[in-house]
Amino acid sequence: MPRDLTRRDFARLFAAGGSAALLAHPALKGLAVPAPLAASTRSGVAPDWEAVRAQFLMPQELSVLNAANLCPAPRLVLEAVQTFTERLDRDPVPSYRNEMHGAKEVVREKLATFLRVIPGEILVTRNTSEANNWVSNGLDLGPGDEVLIFSDNHPSNNQAWKAKAGRFGYSVREVPYVTPYPGYGYYVDAFERAITPATRVLSFTHLTSTSGDLFPAAELCRMARDRGVISLVDGAQSFGNLDVDLSVIQPDFYSGSAHKWPCGPKETGVLYVNARIHDRFWPSSYSAYTGRVGLSRTHEGMGQRDEPAIHAFGLQMDFLAAIGQAAIEARSRELSSVLIDGLAAIDGVKMWTTMDPSLRASVVTFQPGTLEPSRVLAALEEDGIVAASRGGSDRPGIRFSPHFYNSHSDVERAIDAIRRYVRAGL
Ligand SMILES: Cc1ncc(COP(=O)(O)O)c(C=O)c1O
Repeated sequence: MPRDLTRRDFARLFAAGGSAALLAHPALKGLAVPAPLAASTRSGVAPDWEAVRAQFLMPQELSVLNAANLCPAPRLVLEAVQTFTERLDRDPVPSYRNEMHGAKEVVREKLATFLRVIPGEILVTRNTSEANNWVSNGLDLGPGDEVLIFSDNHPSNNQAWKAKAGRFGYSVREVPYVTPYPGYGYYVDAFERAITPATRVLSFTHLTSTSGDLFPAAELCRMARDRGVISLVDGAQSFGNLDVDLSVIQPDFYSGSAHKWPCGPKETGVLYVNARIHDRFWPSSYSAYTGRVGLSRTHEGMGQRDEPAIHAFGLQMDFLAAIGQAAIEARSRELSSVLIDGLAAIDGVKMWTTMDPSLRASVVTFQPGTLEPSRVLAALEEDGIVAASRGGSDRPGIRFSPHFYNSHSDVERAIDAIRRYVRAGL
């Protein structure tokens, strides 16, 4: 029975980390969820990464190095989505539907704990794209106002700001990326110089999906705050990857997707909205089934949603907490460093991601000699390695994004494959 399987697997996972306790979530009717492994993390016992890997369905011979795009979810999430969906369809009585609505608040609390903020500042969205668009829809901006963006932001950020500028009459100013990464100071200066008295918003990406550049989020948000500028931090590549502490970064907005680094269900996400901005932020959607605390009472009316997925998102928060976000970040960074060192040593490979570990995390991009990226991607897939490619003339190449479910052998395989392709051609 799947539930027993889950319990057994988690028992293994916890035993590996020093704790065999399981806790049952009151809203989750008996599905086993992990007890925090924080104690083992604190005591310096490294998580058992093989046990973590065993929670995922991908076959061992498939090296999935594509977290920046879409992460697989562990068995717990898949079972939760199935179990709750089945129950809702088998037994759609008012009491159970109410219970399902209510448990969304449990997810909100977990997200708030995870990001070190309060539940009243958390909106449960469908993904980063929606969250970013809620921000550009929800601020009063017009002629005479300026929005400052970074050139490497995702289209859900930059394309949205530019399209809405045409409609609402504000203007957009863009700080261009520089490669190789020139360092934190360069960008803090560049953004500071680009701010004018008309600047209302600064929108940048915490960890870029293009070169894997890590941005000094706390410093940039402080600089914006000091100048009365609203900050949006796109966290699609940092949420569930880095140990993000919004009480330190203090953005006005932070967005993320559950189906990327958190390895949660598809089409669930988060928008953090700092309390200080609530009275200047309009809802983008009005409908039934709003949230019950803080901003969610007015800004989360989205009608009927995939509540089983939202519940599963909460369970996945427990899964991440059980391993420890600091340990997860350390693991993906460690694998990325091995990967970068290996790739950079191959003759002909040009790294787009910086060689300085303090300026990057676990998004690794590079040009594999003169090889066509789409052909490299296809060859990788044939060799059982999942990556992403980028064509065109702007930093073309391959992106690997290792995560905590990967192993050193996944990374070595990827390096060997690229070495072979670059030497022998495709
Ligand atoms: C930086 C960044 N922002 C936003 C998005 C959009 O994420 P989603 O498709 O989950 O909305 C992505 C997707 O890759 C991204 O890399």
